[in-house]
Amino acid sequence: MDPLPIHTIICLVCWSFWLFPLCASSGSRLLPDKPLSAGSTITSDDGTFALGFFSPSSSGKKHYYVGIWYKNIPKDNVVWVANRAMPIADPSSATLAFTNGSNLALSDTNGQLLWMTDISAAGNSSSEATGGEATLDNNGNFILRSSQGIILWQSFDYPTDTLLPGMNLRITHKTHALQRLVSWRNTQDPSPGNFSYGAHPDEFLRRFSWNGSTPYWRSPAWNNYLLVGRYVESVKSTIHFTLNTIDDEVYISFGLPEPSVSLVLLKMDYSGKMKLRTWNSNMSKWTDLRSEPKHECNKFGYCGPFGYCDNTQPIVTCKCIDGFEPNNKQDWTAHRFSQGCHRMEALRCGQGDGFLNLPSMKVPDESLHVKNISLDECIAECTSNCSCTAYAFANTSTKDINGDETRCLLWNGDLIDTEKLIGQGQNLYIRVNGLSGTVYCLCFSACVGRYTLYFMGPVELQ
Ligand SMILES: *[C@@H]1O[C@H](CO)[C@@H](O)[C@H](O)[C@H]1NC(C)=O
Ligand SMILES: *[C@@H]1O[C@H](CO)[C@@H](O)[C@H](O)[C@H]1NC(C)=O
Ligand SMILES: *[C@@H]1O[C@H](CO)[C@@H](O)[C@H](O)[C@H]1NC(C)=O
Ligand SMILES: *[C@@H]1O[C@H](CO)[C@@H](O)[C@H](O)[C@H]1NC(C)=O
Ligand SMILES: *[C@@H]1O[C@H](CO)[C@@H](O)[C@H](O)[C@H]1NC(C)=O
Ligand SMILES: *[C@@H]1O[C@H](CO)[C@@H](O)[C@H](O)[C@H]1NC(C)=O
Ligand SMILES: *[C@@H]1O[C@H](CO)[C@@H](O)[C@H](O)[C@H]1NC(C)=O
Ligand SMILES: *[C@@H]1O[C@H](CO)[C@@H](O)[C@H](O)[C@H]1NC(C)=O
Repeated sequence: MDPLPIHTIICLVCWSFWLFPLCASSGSRLLPDKPLSAGSTITSDDGTFALGFFSPSSSGKKHYYVGIWYKNIPKDNVVWVANRAMPIADPSSATLAFTNGSNLALSDTNGQLLWMTDISAAGNSSSEATGGEATLDNNGNFILRSSQGIILWQSFDYPTDTLLPGMNLRITHKTHALQRLVSWRNTQDPSPGNFSYGAHPDEFLRRFSWNGSTPYWRSPAWNNYLLVGRYVESVKSTIHFTLNTIDDEVYISFGLPEPSVSLVLLKMDYSGKMKLRTWNSNMSKWTDLRSEPKHECNKFGYCGPFGYCDNTQPIVTCKCIDGFEPNNKQDWTAHRFSQGCHRMEALRCGQGDGFLNLPSMKVPDESLHVKNISLDECIAECTSNCSCTAYAFANTSTKDINGDETRCLLWNGDLIDTEKLIGQGQNLYIRVNGLSGTVYCLCFSACVGRYTLYFMGPVELQ
């Protein structure tokens, strides 16, 4: 973020007149009789976050925005923007102020309204709500309260491109709309860009980064609905992702056990990468703990049907699932993978198909989610249906959002967007022709015993 020149100038003037407190932070609160204007900021009590006017452009014609940023981080520090699509051309007399009805409004020099809170959307508003105050909390949440102390609006309910620890992103839409993180257009333009991140409207297990309306990258499905922890050496802590149900809706959030240990955030970057970042204060730069898609091969559906992206090899590239071969060998050799692979031996449903276990997989997209059945029932469900090409089973141990303890995923037809992961993922059981399966089995048991084969029906496993 480029420091606001007007701020610098005013502050220099103020310094010289020993009036510094006038232009420095006006504390952590915005009050009805004290509108915020360019040159002053609101700072959270612990000094982590600031809210005020800023310009992200370093050259050319500058546009100004009201936003929240990490106060002590010099670059890429903006975490929330109010008027992202309605920039302020001239900040000299723009103000963020209370309206009569306890909303906050951002108006420019000509009195044009650029942005306003909508307290009626929160369901907490009352017609007699008056006055109140807005505070910037230590976690970066800007909260508007009525004079009776009721929360009328909060910035955490209106994510832009960044999810901070403690924020919730809504991934179901029973009574409220789905939420998405929406990228900036570029590093100097916070207006909504091409990329967004959130859940599929019909199935919250399916979470994507989209390029426009096209899936660009898919998050792996969770084995456990409630907590996914991952120890991260550079922050010396476990970052956990959680699903919460609040008022009938499902939300994802993430965080560290001790929030103050490190600064971490999840960001839908303008370039289309979904980034989990931490601030490295020693080196004074952001470190990307994850940045997805990492390789070309990780892009959604890149390896075509029945292909998978193998992340375990030094050169991360597409392969055909065992028992399959490229549909177009020339294309495949030329690294054009979109046509995918086909089965070498046709299935003979009911006559001894088996299942080949592929461990550590990011399981394919477009699964059928069967709730609350046992492993045996899950296998039977797939076995008995000739169009079922694969299954994966998870015992979520803890009761999930909908009250079931297990999750059986079944696939019909093509398997798309499959990956082999390093040290994570799930067992994916692919339906194979029983006879060819026996051949694999003999081969692989002679090799390293890489695969486990499960057979049902007349073919006996040796
Ligand atoms: C605000 O309230 C005052 C007095 O109650 C009224 O005169 C004025 O029109 C109101 N302004 C708006 C924008 O509602
Ligand atoms: C309504 O206010 C209560 C109490 O201040 C708060 O706990 C709750 O989160 C608010 N609800 C919304 C939707 O903001
Ligand atoms: C965004 O999409 C438009 C067309 O839909 C395209 O021209 C532009 O290159 C895209 N930008 C990025 C960063 O992908
Ligand atoms: C996003 O889609 C647009 C077309 O809609 C395309 O021009 C652009 O290259 C895509 N961006 C990426 C990063 O794939
Ligand atoms: C920063 O430096 C200190 C002292 O050298 C060290 O203890 C700490 O682990 C470093 N932190 C990171 C994130 O590298
Ligand atoms: C799931 O795992 C728990 C604990 O390991 C076990 O008690 C429970 O029976 C399992 N449920 C199913 C359906 O396998
Ligand atoms: C079973 O087969 C039918 C079509 O015959 C299909 O509609 C259904 O989705 C399949 N179920 C599973 C679990 O594969
Ligand atoms: C899950 O299945 C068990 C055993 O079949 C049953 O007792 C329980 O009520 C089911 N739970 C839900 C949420 O359907």
